[in-house]
Amino acid sequence: MDIGKLYDQSIAGTYDRDELGLYSGARDKAYQQIKTHIGNQRIDDVLDLAVGTGESLLKMKELFPEGNLHGIDLSGEMLKIAKTKLSFNAIHDDVLNTCKHFPLASVDLMLMYFLTTFVDGSEVVRDTSKLLRPGGYYSIVGTTYEAFPRIDELARMTLSEDFLKQANPLPMGTETIVSYLSDAGLDVVAIDTFTKTVEFSDFKDFYQFGMDSGFFTHILVQCDRAQLETFGRLENIFPLKDQYTGSIVLARKP
Ligand SMILES: C[S@@+](CC[C@H](N)C(=O)[O-])C[C@H]1O[C@@H](n2cnc3c(N)ncnc32)[C@H](O)[C@@H]1O
Repeated sequence: MDIGKLYDQSIAGTYDRDELGLYSGARDKAYQQIKTHIGNQRIDDVLDLAVGTGESLLKMKELFPEGNLHGIDLSGEMLKIAKTKLSFNAIHDDVLNTCKHFPLASVDLMLMYFLTTFVDGSEVVRDTSKLLRPGGYYSIVGTTYEAFPRIDELARMTLSEDFLKQANPLPMGTETIVSYLSDAGLDVVAIDTFTKTVEFSDFKDFYQFGMDSGFFTHILVQCDRAQLETFGRLENIFPLKDQYTGSIVLARKP
């Protein structure tokens, strides 16, 4: 699936609504980790992998006003929105090509927020951690299979294991994200989770959230009508309550 196109055409226009506050809540916890552990250490260069609409770089500008800001993303429309908010070195490319754009040891703080759904996190962290200067930090916010346990259970009742693995290849849990960082030779300095109860009144409400927010768009667009109808017809599941959990990990290069 062309994820850049999906964000350009279906998600960019609604992404910043963040109606349930899941993106902002999890990012806020990551900013807190950064404030606590990096504090006022000197940060010259911040690189946001999958910068999206620029929300995290905006915050980094506040925390590190002297720092140079860089962001890479596959979606031109997401980058266009980011550029209305702040001035930064915007690169329209796949994160798999990040190392072509930056010399080794040229970044002090790397962000990777809500990207682990779309890439092999272990490969991206291994490659991009080479861009960190010694003493540099890597901050990850990720959604894992622990994120929506009730929705996951219902999805498994209606969709095959193979379909779900292909359509939504997530890290297993927070420990998997921790392993991306430690396997790349970084020292993990903080592990947190952000949790929030969510509720959907009916299937339409759930579908709208899933499509507009980007949380389930990549799965929903791969479902055929019959699969969606089966999910919508499950009896007594609405109002559907679940508890969202996002994983938030900070690591340091020795
Ligand atoms: C859920 S959004 C997260 C955006 C931002 N990090 C945030 O915290 O709001 C996912 C972003 O990843 C981008 N993306 C997905 N796969 C990518 C890839 N392989 N390379 C670069 N960007 C990618 C999408 O275009 C989208 O902007």
